[in-house]
Amino acid sequence: MTEPYYSSAGVTLYHGDALTVLPEIASAGCMILDPPYHMSPSTFRGIDDGAASSIATPVRLLTETFREAYRILPNGGAAFIFCDWRRGPDTTYLATLSGLRITTCVAWTRNRSGTGGMFRGAWDPIYVASKGVPSIRDKAAIPNVINADHPTDKDHPYEKPGRVWDHLLSRIPHTRVVDAFAGSGTSATSALRNGHEWVGIEADERHCETIALRMSQDTLDLGELPA
Ligand SMILES: C[S@@+](CC[C@H](N)C(=O)[O-])C[C@H]1O[C@@H](n2cnc3c(N)ncnc32)[C@H](O)[C@@H]1O
Repeated sequence: MTEPYYSSAGVTLYHGDALTVLPEIASAGCMILDPPYHMSPSTFRGIDDGAASSIATPVRLLTETFREAYRILPNGGAAFIFCDWRRGPDTTYLATLSGLRITTCVAWTRNRSGTGGMFRGAWDPIYVASKGVPSIRDKAAIPNVINADHPTDKDHPYEKPGRVWDHLLSRIPHTRVVDAFAGSGTSATSALRNGHEWVGIEADERHCETIALRMSQDTLDLGELPA
């Protein structure tokens, strides 16, 4: 069994490969999946074919991760899959093959746009996959759009803002949330704020250090954490 790199009330962080650690996790009501996608253009004999095809999708990583997500989730459990529009067809296809149902898609929009030629990117899809019909916390009418700019003082190049995590994690009943590609670990703070337990996995030890530092600070700031 992999020993935790860090743990405190409601938080457990593993330093390692998600494909090694996930099989050791028995169950969790929610999974966060923000894997490393490779954004280089697809090529056919060295020529950019301009298509969203499978060449830049980490097929094995996603296939095995989705298979584990399906095993770990109970009926009604949800997986939030962060994506890029180019990887959408492959990602949703692979998730569906593992048995997950693509229930809905949340658009994460930004006021500041990124790079691009004809149009500059200002949104990303977050697919909500579930095992059967997803369990929700209440019947509040929450839109499937969240607007939040990238954090300006980032600890990680792909760090997601707290408002995005809150939008997602406030919709599910209190549970254990597993973030398989934790990065900066900002999802942990939101998980605790929304009454969940958090388990993170991160392959890069430098990011594990950042998470552990942040969580020691947050634990001090939050005081008593939810049971
Ligand atoms: C897109 S980033 C995640 C960003 C994160 N959601 C955040 O808000 O900071 C992907 C992360 O996955 C980590 N990673 C890559 N391959 C991994 C693997 N096989 N197992 C666990 N973590 C991995 C990378 O080091 C990187 O920090």
